[in-house]
Amino acid sequence: MAISVREIGKTFVAEVEGVDLSRPLDAETVAAIRQAWWDHSILVLRGQSITEEQHIAFTRHFGELQDHSVKDWLLPAHPEILVLSNRGRGGVKPLDNGGAYWHSDMTYEAEPPMGSILHGLTVPPDGGDTLYTDMYAAYEALDDETKKLIEGRMAIHNYRHRYMKMAEGGKRSAPTAEQLAGWRDVEHPIVLKHPDSGRKALFVNEGFTVAVKGLAADESEALLARLYAHCVQPQFIHAHKWSPGDIVMWDNRCTMHCATQYDVSKYERTMHRTTIKGAALCQAVAA
Ligand SMILES: [Fe+2]
Repeated sequence: MAISVREIGKTFVAEVEGVDLSRPLDAETVAAIRQAWWDHSILVLRGQSITEEQHIAFTRHFGELQDHSVKDWLLPAHPEILVLSNRGRGGVKPLDNGGAYWHSDMTYEAEPPMGSILHGLTVPPDGGDTLYTDMYAAYEALDDETKKLIEGRMAIHNYRHRYMKMAEGGKRSAPTAEQLAGWRDVEHPIVLKHPDSGRKALFVNEGFTVAVKGLAADESEALLARLYAHCVQPQFIHAHKWSPGDIVMWDNRCTMHCATQYDVSKYERTMHRTTIKGAALCQAVAA
């Protein structure tokens, strides 16, 4: 299968053409997609009409699948698939405007995912886009003083804070004892050296980063707010406007994403996500 890779919008996003994921992929095609993914952080494959099994099989080319800790959204027949659906398709709990805050997936895990592969099934005609930001570019654009300030520092991540905020707003069920016990503080470097590319990327996110280790609460809050504001400047952002059948796959270690709002009473938005296991990230590195 001859594929073509075309950069779209920003340098960290490319569209891959000439791939039909409903058919088995040969090793050469898989290798070409993998290379394109390392080159671009985010890949878009349009018009994919695939089954859940084919989505899972495609994901397995890039690593082992990771389950989500919130079982409410796992597809009963295929728990490797997380269903993001405001209509609760497939027997899962409905999720309205679920990822509408800037985050990288599951950084509250000691070993955050390497990446995610999202398949748009039913998408609203207006809103419900996904914004992506390039955390390599965001790091590189920091001033020297800020790079020095974050050099060698670790940040603390935990899911509890985000989940409880959503639960209090009625968007999540009360946490189970198992969930509460499982949500522990984990630490990751603020500046990570990407394990595959060797490039440095910022690795804090509004979704799950709760503090900078070793700073007073007010200093930590101010620094994180400043970094978040820096990362989401327009020059770093690519907006993906969904069409049914689109697949977007992102490297979770060097990007953040955020869904935009849409009218949940008027439109359906249903997506399937698979998540690829990652590894513990290296210790804090020098800026
Ligand atoms: Fe997400």
